[in-house]
Amino acid sequence: MGKRRLIIAAGLCILFFSAHAGAAETENSCVSCHRDIPRDTFIGSKYTDWEGSIHAGQGIACQRCHGGNPSAVKKEDAHAGIYNSGNPLSRVYYKSVPGTCGACHRRDFNAFRESTHYSILQRTGAGPTCATCHESHTTRIVSPRQIPTICRQCHNERMNISPQVPVRAQALLLLINETGYLVRDVRGRIASDDQEGMQTWKDAYEAMQNARDEWHAFNLERVQMKILQVYDMILRFLEKKK
Ligand code: HEC
Ligand code: HEC
Ligand code: HEC
Ligand code: HEC
Ligand code: HEC
Repeated sequence: MGKRRLIIAAGLCILFFSAHAGAAETENSCVSCHRDIPRDTFIGSKYTDWEGSIHAGQGIACQRCHGGNPSAVKKEDAHAGIYNSGNPLSRVYYKSVPGTCGACHRRDFNAFRESTHYSILQRTGAGPTCATCHESHTTRIVSPRQIPTICRQCHNERMNISPQVPVRAQALLLLINETGYLVRDVRGRIASDDQEGMQTWKDAYEAMQNARDEWHAFNLERVQMKILQVYDMILRFLEKKK
């Protein structure tokens, strides 16, 4: 076999095995049985919602949130430890959702635990869970455009829960996203031998990360202050370059 053929054969092997590994991650009894439940039923619709999600793409299947035994073939065995979300024993009972998501999203969970949202959720159930904003199966990334609709479920004049929040949060998220783009954009303009420039950029990047990590504490003033600091760092840097 020529050298070139060998390389092609090796390439095909890698392709085959990686494709196979990807499928194996989500291919378990939960997925294979639930896939065949009629999709126009309540239970079946959850599979459809999950199927195209970021989580499905990352190989995160049903048992990672619901528990149960994904190697058991029979329904009763697979469902051991699974309860309806209305049952306090369920891992997706509203009070338990943050901890279940937080097993992987540690930093978001840690910030969320500091929020008024979290304490009210635990006390009366009137605060949002992670799934209120991100949905449980489709897993949306919230865009500034969606903020008013999501927050106004509770923050509205009728319920009189801080009705000014949606407009302020929308503007802040826009500022966070724009500043994030700016930080990324500036990176491309720093010469590799510009040590001072690189250091300023690294500081800005870390400060940005730090501000983002605090988002889920829902202290809008604090996040806004931190983002404006990042913004100032970038502006100072650009002015020096002129
Ligand atoms: C052999 C088929 C089969 C397997 C395997 C299976 N399920 Fe189910 N599941 C069903 C059916 C059918 C229902 C509808 C309710 C019922 O019949 O119990 C259901 C219901 C559910 C519910 C809703 C429970 C409720 O009380 O409302 C969840 C959550 C769930 N399954 C998760 C899982 C997870 C996680 C796994 C893997 C660990 C799994 N299922 C494995 C068939 C299956
Ligand atoms: C990222 C976490 C997560 C994953 C992954 C996930 N679910 Fe869920 N699921 C939830 C949450 C949270 C609820 C609670 C009710 C709600 O918010 O919709 C729920 C509710 C449900 C329900 C409604 C019954 C109930 O207990 O409320 C069914 C059925 C269900 N899930 C099935 C599945 C199946 C089947 C899969 C895999 C194909 C899956 N889920 C994957 C988080 C998840
Ligand atoms: C088993 C680990 C795991 C669990 C449990 C889990 N996630 Fe994820 N989630 C991931 C991974 C991995 C990604 C993709 C990588 C990333 O962006 O962090 C992701 C991505 C996301 C994203 C998109 C982030 C982005 O900017 O791309 C959101 C939002 C999200 N998850 C919310 C949730 C919510 C809400 C729950 C609970 C209902 C949950 N996750 C449960 C592992 C998990
Ligand atoms: C009141 C609404 C709300 C609640 C509750 C909420 N989030 Fe978020 N989350 C957002 C918004 C808005 C963003 C910013 C936009 C984005 O990146 O999706 C975000 C960002 C994220 C991201 C992506 C950016 C990052 O920080 O990595 C993940 C992952 C995430 N949330 C997970 C969670 C988890 C886990 C919980 C529960 C512990 C939770 N969220 C609770 C609204 C919410
Ligand atoms: C399920 C209901 C619910 C949803 C949805 C919700 N909140 Fe809240 N939020 C509350 C409650 C209840 C309080 C506490 C009472 C108050 O502040 O008047 C609160 C308080 C707050 C506070 C003030 C915190 C403090 O310490 O005073 C902020 C900021 C906030 N929410 C932001 C948001 C944002 C941003 C969204 C949308 C991304 C959102 N909330 C969605 C219920 C909700």
